[in-house]
Amino acid sequence: MSTNEPAASTHDRPELRAVEGGAANADARRAQGGGPDRSTSWWLGMLRRRAERMYDEKLPLDEPIAWASEAERQAAIAFFNAAYRAEESGLSQAHELAAEVAEWDPELAEVLRLYGDEEGWHRALLTEFLAYLGGDVRPMGRVTGTFYKLYARAKRMETIVLTNLMFETIGSTTYRLALRRATHPAVRHMLTILTRDESFHVPLNVHFLRETMKRRPGLPTRLRMKAIYHLLFLALLGSAAASRERAALFDKVTFKELSTAYAEHLGRLFLQEADFDLTPSTLLLRLFGLDPAELRASEGPSFTSVRAAEEAVDRTRVTVTAL
Ligand SMILES: [Fe+2]
Ligand SMILES: [Fe+2]
Repeated sequence: MSTNEPAASTHDRPELRAVEGGAANADARRAQGGGPDRSTSWWLGMLRRRAERMYDEKLPLDEPIAWASEAERQAAIAFFNAAYRAEESGLSQAHELAAEVAEWDPELAEVLRLYGDEEGWHRALLTEFLAYLGGDVRPMGRVTGTFYKLYARAKRMETIVLTNLMFETIGSTTYRLALRRATHPAVRHMLTILTRDESFHVPLNVHFLRETMKRRPGLPTRLRMKAIYHLLFLALLGSAAASRERAALFDKVTFKELSTAYAEHLGRLFLQEADFDLTPSTLLLRLFGLDPAELRASEGPSFTSVRAAEEAVDRTRVTVTAL
């Protein structure tokens, strides 16, 4: 795996978009009114190949970190605790869904199981990494705890999958932004693994959502999805504010940078995956200086494209770029 030096957002750097080759995907998406989706068998093949060598990858944790202050170390522990909780939730939801889906689509169930295993591997890495930071897994705060409790109670598949997709999107965005200023090799390695794999999980969850929607194409489902999408969009922007209080000293990302990146990536994904009929609020996007038409037309985060996922089958060959 190689890690590029921090780069500007693809939004600011059109040449990066061209280099990363997202144009073909965007065109195909637009032409089809949806993503160039791959079959469940294709995803299963990808995940099986990724699983073959997954546990061979180790974190280089021999060199201690020289923190600027104890507050910075605590902020790092808070940052990776949030990541740990996201992995824990992703793992259990994926495996629960796998058990349910097995009744009607055993192949998709196997894809969900292997996806959950990847999150479980991340959780194990984060447990090890938190100990290396001199921290541990902490009880969740009130707001985070309430959110995860509600999410764990969600029963409808489409609710769970849509929430997961939005989580993967902001997860890959957060890690990619944090990579921009991370310097210690172990921190960069941990962030690179998370960025690379969560980026792979975005188009995978687009596939899950599409398969789920086929089962319940009716209006009540669509209306519920819209309500969840808009509510979560706002909640995730709010979470950007909350996480700045706890983690900004570590990742050096401002609220404006993080919230704008969330709005951009959550907005663009759903504008381009138009068949989901989940359109972000124009007013909200404009508040962040984003133009819906531009987002829809732009090639977007090619690192979360199906093509990038295809290349990510061999983790060692993925180039992870900072935002
Ligand atoms: Fe993960
Ligand atoms: Fe993930």
